[in-house]
Amino acid sequence: MRSALLIVLGLVIGILGSVFTFSALHQRTPLPKAVMTVMAYHSSELHHAVKAGQCDAAAIATNLARLQSAALDIPGAFKGVEQPFLRASDKLQDAVGSAVTAAPTSCAALATTLQPVDDACDSCHKRFR
Ligand code: HEC
Repeated sequence: MRSALLIVLGLVIGILGSVFTFSALHQRTPLPKAVMTVMAYHSSELHHAVKAGQCDAAAIATNLARLQSAALDIPGAFKGVEQPFLRASDKLQDAVGSAVTAAPTSCAALATTLQPVDDACDSCHKRFR
């Protein structure tokens, strides 16, 4: 009975091990997803601020700056990508750059500045995700 249990346990560990190895090989580093997750976090903070009608200029500036610095990591995180992907990444950087320069201080201004940023995220996802 005990040895049967050990054999089952060994099989389960073996299967789990190969699943983890396979997915680790498949995705070489967690960086691409990490960059996306950080951008999604700051973008959602900004959208929540608009929804809640609480648009603090300093918080907006911080979230936009963090979004911008994460966006700058896209080309490095996705190594070996093609030219059209890099252009989509540039488009996002332009949109975020304009948002940072615009430095919105009201919810209405923030919503307007976020639109081209959201469009840049969507258009890359539609094509490459
Ligand atoms: C230049 C192309 C490009 C741009 C621009 C882009 N993304 Fe992505 N995004 C991707 C790709 C490719 C994936 C799939 C990554 C993967 O599965 O490894 C992805 C995946 C994601 C994911 C899922 C991450 C996960 O854990 O699976 C989120 C969330 C995300 N992007 C948010 C954003 C946000 C927010 C923006 C805009 C601020 C954005 N992305 C802009 C290409 C882009």
